This record gives sequence, structure tokens and C-alpha cells, in this order.
Amino acid sequence: MSDWYRDFANSGFGTTLTKQLGLPRPAVLRRYEPGSPLLPGPAVIGTAGKGRLREALTTILRDAGVTVQSPATADGGTDGEKLAAVILDATGLAGPADLAAAHDFLAPAIKRLRGSGRVLVVGEPPAEATSVPQAAARQALDGLVRSIGKELLDGSTANLVHVPEGAEGSLASPVRFFLSGRSAYVDGQPVTLSAADVPSTQDDDRPLAGKVAVVTGAARGIGAAIAEVMARDGAHVVAVDIPAAGDSLAKVANDIGGTALQLDITAAHAARRLIEHLRERHSAGGNRCVDIVVHNAGITRDKLLVNMDATRWNSVMAVNLQAQLDITQALLDSDALRPGARVVCVSSQSGIAGNRGQTNYAASKAGVIGMVRAWAPEFAERGATINAVAPGFIVTEMTARMPLGTREIGSRINSLQQGGLPVDVAETIAWLSQPGSAGVNGQVVRVCGQSMLGA
Ligand SMILES: NC(=O)c1ccc[n+]([C@@H]2O[C@H](COP(=O)([O-])OP(=O)(O)OC[C@H]3O[C@@H](n4cnc5c(N)ncnc54)[C@H](O)[C@@H]3O)[C@@H](O)[C@H]2O)c1
Repeated sequence: MSDWYRDFANSGFGTTLTKQLGLPRPAVLRRYEPGSPLLPGPAVIGTAGKGRLREALTTILRDAGVTVQSPATADGGTDGEKLAAVILDATGLAGPADLAAAHDFLAPAIKRLRGSGRVLVVGEPPAEATSVPQAAARQALDGLVRSIGKELLDGSTANLVHVPEGAEGSLASPVRFFLSGRSAYVDGQPVTLSAADVPSTQDDDRPLAGKVAVVTGAARGIGAAIAEVMARDGAHVVAVDIPAAGDSLAKVANDIGGTALQLDITAAHAARRLIEHLRERHSAGGNRCVDIVVHNAGITRDKLLVNMDATRWNSVMAVNLQAQLDITQALLDSDALRPGARVVCVSSQSGIAGNRGQTNYAASKAGVIGMVRAWAPEFAERGATINAVAPGFIVTEMTARMPLGTREIGSRINSLQQGGLPVDVAETIAWLSQPGSAGVNGQVVRVCGQSMLGA
């Protein structure tokens, strides 16, 4: 499932032609490879406001082997070396006047950004501001980052991390994610951190070593990619799918050294069967038997609402929302989640933007977002997290079957001008599942290349 237009636009003739005709030239995105450096070049850190996190950011980057330049060398363009990342510490803003420093730093620095570069802005939550001008300045960063994301070409991205007072210790994992190739298709996204017990070290190449991870809908598509990435990162994966998908499920599980569990997640005793399966194989005598649960299984049964029968409505709700609720509730009630557990729920851009012909699907996926946000405080009390990812246009067998015109439009209406890959969703889920992501809770991360829908 290659992107023929992107490949053509990046060929010798294609580059000339797309330039002459003013056509978009989607970049080949920098994606994570195990063992690759966090960034393929130096980073620069600037400040607007008090910049209370500058030192912490410098330490995170240096610990990851990144060369950090000072803004003075960055804007002078001394040796012409391109920057791989531009980071703005905009914590401690008092009001809009402080934002002038953001412009003064970002404009020359972004000029020096290389392809697949990263712009990361670190701010504070507007809702926790102590004055109206401060709230305005904090919120301004949101518009700034979203607009930078839309201005950047060449596969570069811009994202925003809000760090409330007391959540400074949660910063390293999101900074590493947003700078790395793991976030290739995450663009124009705000994430708000919370205070949490974050482990002091983590093996960045195998951050899930020793973890047991359940992935539903793992027989194909995005679920199979999640299972592969989780296993690559060190987890033992229990791959779940319906009995009818048994053969492909077994193949996915065998290929990654995991186990397969044939289970319809909407069946009457699905949660009990899942927990029994996990206890038999993964408990050391006690109740606790699982570290990571990824609710990925999902279905569509599209029709305009006026033509939609109850079966279509009910089946989509049952798989996409009710099963996630029931299984998660059963895991909590039976104390099956190990300390530091991670639950990641797959929502959809349709759940944010709505979609014609998808009232059932969009309602179920919006429900997932409501569920995650409502459960986050209880998960935090247990030292666990629950988050959602909302994929946009992801290139799968399903999208390959779309008519060419629909597919081309669907895949280009985002800042990166291309569809994402299943691995992009998988990388984001694997990041949320890391022990170091303890301070990312109740968040909805879109993996949509900054889609224009619902943005
Ligand atoms: N592909 C996209 O562009 C896209 C965009 C947004 C959201 N999503 C979401 O991502 C997830 C995966 O999507 P995909 O494109 O890989 O879909 P897919 O249809 O290729 O795979 C879904 C898997 O879920 C399994 N499944 C369905 N019902 C089940 C049940 N009752 N019990 C157990 N397993 C069941 C299917 O057998 C299948 O293997 C879904 O939740 C989907 O809504 C996909």
C-alpha cells in the first residue's frame, strides 16, 4: 500500500513537475527505527516568559544525546547546520506582551529547521492561570502551535505540551516522544501533563520489557501493528480477536512470540474469559495479571441516520463502546491491573469531527473520549493511566478499497498531505503505555497529521 503520489512527487521528474505546477509534495516522514538517535541533528531551546523549564528541557535532551545550541547560534545560522528541533519554553507567561519573545525566537529558528523537523512548545494550562491576561497568553500558544503545524512543510510537525505546577517530573517522556520518529504523524496536538510518580530510568529501546499487554482486534490492520510495536518494545502480547479471524490472529501472535485468544469482546462472559486467560498464564498467584490493555477492536456499519436500522446502531455501540466499558470495569473490579497499568482506547477523528453516514460510529467513538476523561481521576488514584488515541486517515486494506478520488482527497487534507500508517497509531499507543508516561492521563491524542477535519 505505497503512496504512489508521494513517491512520484519525490522522484526527480515529479519534483520538477510538482514545483512548476504548484502541487503539494508530501514528504517521506522520519519514522522511528530501534537504535536510531532521538534526533538526526542539533536542537535549540528558546524562552518566552520566565521559562522555568529550560534547564529541565536541556537535561532531557542532553541525556538523550542531543546537541543543544543556544538561541544566539541558532538564529545566526553560523555554520549553516540545519536544526532537527526547535523548542520553546513558554512557561511563566504573564500576559500577551511576553509572546513577542516567542515570535522573536521561533521565526529565525524555524527558518533553519530541516525536513521531518520538530517544533515543540512547552506551556502551562490556561485553566490554571491566575489572571485573565495570563490565561489569554497561555491559550494563545494553542493557536500559535496549530498555525506553525500548518505552515511547516517537509514532514515537520509542531506540538504543544502543557505542564502544570508540580508536573515537571512528567516532562521527559512526552518530550522524547514528540521529538522522535515515533510521533511522525502526530501534528498540531496539545497534551496536558499531570503530576505522577515517574520512574527515574527507562530503556528507550525496550520500554515495555516485562509487561503483559492485551490488544483487541489484533488479527489485522491497526491492531496487528499495535501488537508488533508492543512486542518490539519488549511486551508479551496477548492478541485478541473473533474466532472467525483465528488464522490471521494466530499468525500475528506467532510472528511476535505472543499468545492468541479467540474472543468476541461483546460476548456475554467476554471480560471473565479474558481475565481467566490472563490469570492462568500471567499471575504470580495473586489477582494482578496485566499491565497494558489496548481497546482497539472496532467496526463500522455506515448509513445515514434516517436509514439506519437498530442492528447497525446496536452492533457498533456494542463493539466500539460498551465492550470497552465492560472489560475495563471488570478489570478494575477484579483487581486484575498491575501497579502502573496503562489502558489505551482507540477512538477516531469521526468521534471529534462527526462524519456523514457515521452517526453510530461517531457517537461510539465520542463516547470513548467521554469514558477516558471520566475514568482518568480514578486511574490516577490507582497509579495507573487511561488515554485515547483518535486516528485520522490511516492507510489500511479498508482505505485501499476506496475509490481513487475519495482516497486521494481523504489522505491529503492534512498538514502532512498524506495518510498515516498503522504503525503511526501503534507508536503513539506504545508511548502512552510506557512507564515513563505516568503523567499523561485522560488525554486524547489525535494521530491525524493535523487533519483539517475537526481541527
Ligand atoms: N483505519 C482507519 O483509518 C481508522 C481511523 C480511525 C479509527 N480507526 C479505529 O482503529 C481501530 C482499528 O481499525 P482498523 O482499520 O485496523 O480496522 P479492521 O477492521 O482492519 O480491524 C478491526 C479488527 O477488530 C476485530 N473485531 C471486530 N469486532 C470484534 C469483536 N466483537 N471482538 C473482537 N475483535 C473484533 C476484527 O475482526 C478486526 O480484526 C478501530 O477501532 C477503528 O474504529 C481506524
